[in-house]
Formats: sequence, C-alpha cells, structure tokens
Amino acid sequence: MPALSREVAQGWIARWDRQQEGYLPDREERFTALIDAVEAGAGRPDPLVLDLGCGPGSLAARLLDRLPDATVVAIDADPLLLALGRACHDGRSGLRFEDLDLRAAGWASGLRLDRPVDVAVSTTALHWLSEAGLRTMFAELSLVLRPGGLFLNGDHLDVEDVSPALAKIEHAIYDRATRRRFTEGMPEDWRQWWAAVDADPILSGLHAERERRVAAAHHGSESGNLSTHVTALRGAGFAEIGTLWQNGNNRLLAAVRP
Ligand SMILES: C[S@@+](CC[C@H](N)C(=O)[O-])C[C@H]1O[C@@H](n2cnc3c(N)ncnc32)[C@H](O)[C@@H]1O
Repeated sequence: MPALSREVAQGWIARWDRQQEGYLPDREERFTALIDAVEAGAGRPDPLVLDLGCGPGSLAARLLDRLPDATVVAIDADPLLLALGRACHDGRSGLRFEDLDLRAAGWASGLRLDRPVDVAVSTTALHWLSEAGLRTMFAELSLVLRPGGLFLNGDHLDVEDVSPALAKIEHAIYDRATRRRFTEGMPEDWRQWWAAVDADPILSGLHAERERRVAAAHHGSESGNLSTHVTALRGAGFAEIGTLWQNGNNRLLAAVRP
C-alpha cells in the first residue's frame, strides 16, 4: 500500500474543507471570529489551546497561522482524519494530534500536559456527543482548563425547545445563506466524501480501522440543542455562558471557567 504523503493529505483536507462548507457557508467567517476570540481572551500571546473533535486539523492550522506562538493539542477519535492531519502538518511547530475519545472518563489525563490550558476550542463536533457524553467531556475539561480559561464552541445549536418561532427563522437564515453561496450547485456532501476516501487505496487500511471503531462506538443521541450545552456547562461549574457570534442557528458559544 503506498504511504500517505503530505501532498495526498493536503488534497483530501482541501476536499474536506469544501465538503464542510456545504453545511456551513460561513465556515471561514466563524473560524475567524473564533480565533479573534482566542486572541482577545486567552490572556497571553502563547496560549495552550485544546481543539476538541479537531478532524483533520482545519481550525488548529488556521489558529497557528494567526497565533504562531500558540501550542495546539488537537484531539479526535477518528483514525483516518487524525492520519490526514498528522501527514499534512508533520513537523509543524506547536501542533500535535491526540487520539482520544472525548466521551471517555480520563481523556484529559491522557494529554500529558505540562501547564494548564488557556482556551478550549471546538467546531462542528460537540453536537455528536450525547447529553451524558457532554457532561463527561466538560468535567474532564475542567480538570485541565485554568481558572479564567475560555471555552469556545462553534456549532449549529438549535433553540427549537424554547423558541420554536425563532428556531424557524434561524433555519431560514441558514437556508438563504446556503442558496446565496452555492448558486452553481452544492459541493459534495459528507457521505460522498467518505465514499471517495473509501475508494482511495492509500486510505483503505485507515478506513477499515475507522469502520471498526464506528461499529464499536455505540453512539447514542446527539446534543443539537443550545440548552443542552448550556446546562452541561453550568453543571461542570462554567460561568458567564453566552453567544459571541451568530448567523442563524450557527453560533459561537463561549463560557469561562471561574
Ligand atoms: C464534522 S467533524 C468536524 C471536524 C473539525 N472540527 C472541523 O471543523 O473541520 C466532527 C469531528 O468530531 C469528532 N468526534 C465526534 N465524536 C467524538 C468523540 N467522542 N471524541 C473525539 N472526537 C469526536 C469526529 O471524529 C470528527 O472529526
């Protein structure tokens, strides 16, 4: 089997970014707002940042482009996406990838950190966790995030359970933004991207490992409601919880650890 080169990984990550934009026409704008918030809120020019559910490292790379003195520990449980990130960013100063399941108690100690974390960031990932998984994740995060540390989560989070009329309008804003952005047709979707990966012989071993993990993972319900995230954050002792940026139901949810 041919090795996964940096060039091949770069190609798959560029295709991943296009695919993700199909779900998030304002993905780059949200990355920018999130990194602005890190810059404004980290309290130092060389923050230690965790990227939770990093995928192939799209956010981590953009963050280091803007804040080259930062250290980013990028965490995911998908062996194929991690392999793409590692191959693409091999040797990049300030970045390492960790293969850990955020739902599992003990993931924070698996990071072997030598100083407290200043900021934890995440994009389009934490809605995959169930309510119980979110509680575990935040409890673990509290063990390593410094007092005054920031949590920043960019994701589609709905208000349907508390404000159905506003939820409808938020969805309509998202639909209109998507139609305006992709006048010549939508990019490939998530399933098409994964099918294409499956057909690449360079990635077939990693894809088989991924399938094995997905089958064993027993993913429960997801947490798509804003209220679920806010309640889990409060339960883990986070304070000053609020939205820093929003476009329809696409939000940047922030919280501070007291
Ligand atoms: C839609 S992707 C987003 C990836 C990346 N943050 C981005 O914005 O491109 C969701 C990511 O969350 C990761 N993820 C989901 N559940 C996870 C868990 N329990 N532990 C670690 N990563 C998880 C997936 O493996 C996947 O890489």
